[in-house]
Amino acid sequence: MGKLKVAVIGCGSIAKFRHLPEYKANQHVDIVAVCDINEERVKETAEKYGAKPYTNYEDLLKEVHVDIVSVCTPNYLHAPISIAASNAGAHVLCEKPMATSYEEAKAMIVAAKDNGKKLMIAHNQRFVASHKKARQLIESGELGKILSFRTAFGHGGPERWSIDGKDSWFFEKEKAFVGAMGDLGVHKTDLLRYILGEEFVEVGAFVENNAKDFSSIDDNAVCILKSESGIVGTLAASWGYKKEDNSTIIYGEKGVMRLEDDPTFSMIVQYATGEIAKYELGKIQSNDEGGQNTSHVINQFVESVLEDKMPPVPGEEGMKSLQVILAALQSSETKQIVRVLD
Ligand SMILES: NC(=O)c1ccc[n+]([C@@H]2O[C@H](COP(=O)([O-])OP(=O)(O)OC[C@H]3O[C@@H](n4cnc5c(N)ncnc54)[C@H](O)[C@@H]3O)[C@@H](O)[C@H]2O)c1
Repeated sequence: MGKLKVAVIGCGSIAKFRHLPEYKANQHVDIVAVCDINEERVKETAEKYGAKPYTNYEDLLKEVHVDIVSVCTPNYLHAPISIAASNAGAHVLCEKPMATSYEEAKAMIVAAKDNGKKLMIAHNQRFVASHKKARQLIESGELGKILSFRTAFGHGGPERWSIDGKDSWFFEKEKAFVGAMGDLGVHKTDLLRYILGEEFVEVGAFVENNAKDFSSIDDNAVCILKSESGIVGTLAASWGYKKEDNSTIIYGEKGVMRLEDDPTFSMIVQYATGEIAKYELGKIQSNDEGGQNTSHVINQFVESVLEDKMPPVPGEEGMKSLQVILAALQSSETKQIVRVLD
């Protein structure tokens, strides 16, 4: 079998640091086309990867047959581009947050299904070694019944990350739809659903804009969440933390599990017996390292296509994580505890 043909749509930071170098390093694929509305950027990217440049994704999908499309654009374009790519017969790897509404997310899943193609959402936190180990230990009953958690993802904001800096779409409500909650909060809702193996049923939230005065999109949020078995905890997502926090603590009947909370040990379990287990599982990957420390997202998606198996984070999972965010936004607006839609 020949190599799978890949197109990357959106040539900003996540494409540059993750999708493009990780496809390039994968021996089963060829990057054949790239697209960005920024002409200079797409030209430069196309030259670097030996791909054909496009400034309009519809033209790309019409003119080149590709097996895989990565959607690395601003959030409001995730659904239209993913649906067009599925309809053009491609398997789709779409960045998070999956979409801007439940209806869009559902339509993405239907489009992939109707075309017999795969859809994966790039929730990379699931592939971090400490997070995988945490899920295993919790599933095996090591911590006993889980009672509570505390999770946070915060940093200084996307002006230091986005290829367009302070002028980025991240700060435009019509393009981003949601700020720190959609950017960082969705990573942690997805991670907790994965680690706990449970769905969230109720959410209360303050989703505020108090960190950046040059933008009016939400940038600092704190939520309380309740799971189906009654686990309660807090989730914070912020673009206002001057030092990054990307950590999770799980409180169980038999002990406390600290994830990415210590500079050396990515997982520490403090047992009720007094025993402490420290795990050195490697540091949580940082997107700036691109290529040196794989996110696993691209390789796992390619493998699922090659072996015709379910991708590790299918559209349905991305949608469930998005629904928690949608409930948090509704809670913040209505000042009510909101039930997460089934
Ligand atoms: N998984 C992760 O850890 C992670 C990290 C960062 C960003 N992301 C997600 O990746 C997506 C892209 O974010 P980013 O950080 O790369 O943003 P970015 O601002 O660095 O890049 C976005 C790019 O999309 C291009 N673009 C805009 N409209 C387009 C269109 N119609 N067609 C083609 N290209 C278009 C822009 O010109 C820009 O080059 C977002 O959804 C974001 O939430 C995920």
